[in-house]
Amino acid sequence: MNIKKVAVVGGGTMGNGIVTVFALKGFSVFLVELSETLVQKALTSIENNLTRMVKKGSITDFEKSDTLKNITPIIELKNTPPDCDLVIEAVYENKEVKLSIFNELNNIVNSNCIFASNTSSISITELAVTTRPDKFIGMHFMNPVPIMKLVEIIRGYSTSDETFLVIKELAQNLDKVPVEVNDYPGFIANRILMPMINEAIFSLMEGVASAEDIDTVMKLGMNHPMGPLTLADFIGLDVCLAIMEVLYNGLGDSKYRPCPLLKKMVAANKLGRKSGEGFFIYN
Ligand SMILES: NC(=O)c1ccc[n+]([C@@H]2O[C@H](COP(=O)([O-])OP(=O)(O)OC[C@H]3O[C@@H](n4cnc5c(N)ncnc54)[C@H](O)[C@@H]3O)[C@@H](O)[C@H]2O)c1
Repeated sequence: MNIKKVAVVGGGTMGNGIVTVFALKGFSVFLVELSETLVQKALTSIENNLTRMVKKGSITDFEKSDTLKNITPIIELKNTPPDCDLVIEAVYENKEVKLSIFNELNNIVNSNCIFASNTSSISITELAVTTRPDKFIGMHFMNPVPIMKLVEIIRGYSTSDETFLVIKELAQNLDKVPVEVNDYPGFIANRILMPMINEAIFSLMEGVASAEDIDTVMKLGMNHPMGPLTLADFIGLDVCLAIMEVLYNGLGDSKYRPCPLLKKMVAANKLGRKSGEGFFIYN
């Protein structure tokens, strides 16, 4: 199967990055958001990202305008073009929201269209079961999508070999490195990363060290490019909490208990960069 037309549902942190990488490679991309304001916000982020790439010399002005021409904004799911070859969902990390989107899409797009979720941790098997399980797969891009090479390709219980091979080849065509992962809570990336971030938050809550010092230990001591608390702010504390809850409930082990400070900060809408404040303050 040759993928040409791609719809991306959700134009937030991840969605706008996913749209950018597909549009840069010449795919026809439909960016689906809930309202005119949200779609414009996503398009502005994409344009700013492309301008940054031009300034760095990684693309030309001509490539920037060509890339923008490949993107068609769509308001509301019901207006998704039926002849898409692939839909990638990148909305909130919430199983019910994702399920309702896939159930609605199932009646809109053609039966040969592949469904992919960018979920960080929710079971692909559970998301797939009410739609087209053999043509359903996890395509977990990393943040920021235009820069990060890895894509976890998650096989649900019923994902066909054909679907897997199409998506693996597609990821390679986007200049990404696909890694095959089976469907268990948090897959690989977040099963290992999130408990580390959660432990950093426990260390802060217990007063072991300041936020700055916790990050310095991991940057200078472990050679991580970014400390775990800065990274949590970058990912979004709501996303971190949702992933910890999936690990805790899905694996049934108390070692995945979300830190109470993380819960409290999400309740206070201190979500990191996107809300202007998390463990650090952003202007
Ligand atoms: N943030 C990260 O670092 C990161 C990394 C990898 C994967 N993910 C995963 O990617 C997904 C998206 O995360 P995010 O950080 O981009 O979230 P986000 O909150 O930045 O963006 C979500 C977007 O989805 C839109 N949306 C919600 N319902 C919609 C609908 N019915 N139709 C169209 N648009 C809709 C919202 O308006 C919003 O713009 C989540 O599943 C998350 O776990 C996030």
